[in-house]
Amino acid sequence: MASSVAASALDAEFYQSADGFFRSHKTALTFDDVTLATLYSEVLPRETQLDTRLADGLELHVPLVSADMDTVTESRMAIAMAQNGGLGLIHYNMPERDQLSEVSRVKNHVHGLIQEPIKVSPDQFIGDVLALIEKKKFAFSTFPVVDAENRLLGLLPGHVVKPRYAKRKVVEALQPRNEVRTIHERELGNDPIGRADRFFTENPGIHKLLVVDDQDHLRGLFTMSDIERITAEHAAQVKPARDSHFRLLCGAAIATVRRGDGSLDRDRILGHVGGLVERGVDVIAVSTAHGHTKGVGDVVRLVRSAFPSLPIIAGNVTSAGGVEFLAEAGANVIKIGQGPGSICTTRVVAGVGIPQLTALYVASRAAATKGVTLLADGGITKSGDIVKALTLAHGVICGGLFAGCPEAPGQIMEINGKLFKQYRGMGSLAAMKAGSAARYGHSSTDTTRKVAAEGIEALKEASASVDQVIGQMVGGIQSGMGYLGSANLEQLRARARYIRVSSAGMKEAAPHDVVEIKTSANVN
Ligand code: XMP
Repeated sequence: MASSVAASALDAEFYQSADGFFRSHKTALTFDDVTLATLYSEVLPRETQLDTRLADGLELHVPLVSADMDTVTESRMAIAMAQNGGLGLIHYNMPERDQLSEVSRVKNHVHGLIQEPIKVSPDQFIGDVLALIEKKKFAFSTFPVVDAENRLLGLLPGHVVKPRYAKRKVVEALQPRNEVRTIHERELGNDPIGRADRFFTENPGIHKLLVVDDQDHLRGLFTMSDIERITAEHAAQVKPARDSHFRLLCGAAIATVRRGDGSLDRDRILGHVGGLVERGVDVIAVSTAHGHTKGVGDVVRLVRSAFPSLPIIAGNVTSAGGVEFLAEAGANVIKIGQGPGSICTTRVVAGVGIPQLTALYVASRAAATKGVTLLADGGITKSGDIVKALTLAHGVICGGLFAGCPEAPGQIMEINGKLFKQYRGMGSLAAMKAGSAARYGHSSTDTTRKVAAEGIEALKEASASVDQVIGQMVGGIQSGMGYLGSANLEQLRARARYIRVSSAGMKEAAPHDVVEIKTSANVN
């Protein structure tokens, strides 16, 4: 039943739109200061769409990004994030070549056609192949055999790659070329996955399909398990985030590297980004604590002019001016957040930073004018925070939420019978020494000056896997969207109505006056 005019006027007086609410509250507000009002809805949570377009060619199915922090995102996390429809930003506290390999691991994870399969040569011993599998930790043991010109000679099947045959040469054990099933690359058409799927159905018992060209050069390899996983994804509710070649999406952070005289090291920055682009990176993040600076603007301009179509994330800022500045420099996506992070001490140390919701509101108005998107970065502890952030931003970046997952780097440690993982701020002394000093405007090699850390070293209780954490968060976001009658994130941004919460209201919002026997996974 439609509301009467008087009722909707009363609602509008209390439950205000973003412009009405934030402009009348000149206090800096964060997630728990505010609640969202319910609205008439015809939308069931499970029918909501969480897709978000951060930039051209950068579309996620779930608006979640894992932080570019050295205790959060390396290839394992980035793979898990993309498989769940989100995105991982690989941190830069490692040598550049290692970061390139991390990106390659994500991009080559499962993409139907393996374009550069691992090959062996006919003169190798089976023992060499076994050593290679052990050294590289390959989870497979069947290899195409090629000559020096990459021409196909046969297939070394997994059942002969055994220690008992170690002294035999590959040429003695291979399945010869005329018995190996191949397909010409021309026959793949514009649906290679569908073509390979048909092949495996028509040829029971064959699990590998090799792709060759006119001269019988090896051009790629399909495995049945990859194809099955990919086709199963089509039916799944949450789709992996992929590029146009069906590879998982992957982002990487870069530093604002400077020379000894303080000037930007342009060649190194461009070399680094060039390497990332060669490996197939989908977006780079110029990640710093203060993005509204000449240095960050110069780096964004430099990368934009050399790579005109590469999506760039830049930040962090908390003002409309900061958003405009980075957008004009060429960034597509702006990170919002200064000091909200669970391991941040910027506000304590520098007395600077804006509570997240107000920062997001101010930034969102500039972003709309400039045609850029926003990522709300830091301070997210529960799914309700994400819903609130998504009323103003196009996605959220989380560190602490994922740092306890098995996919985060680092070992699990046991303390008093509980399991933990290390989680540290990129502005902590230890992380800055490991390479992130530039992010906070310091030099990691200059030991003569004292630097003030802006982050702490901490522990996170070991948590469930990324699949499960994201599952909980997605459930919460969809629930919030259902309450606001929003079928997609654009509608959520347009429809949100806010009201300030008192401290008693905040207490009322969480479980209270009961003896809790089981804590829900999405409530802190
Ligand atoms: P959460 O709350 O998800 O925050 O753990 C992750 C975000 O925090 C930022 N970050 C820092 N901010 N000092 C800071 O002031 C630090 O040492 C630090 N390390 C990370 C970063 O934006 C990250 O995504």
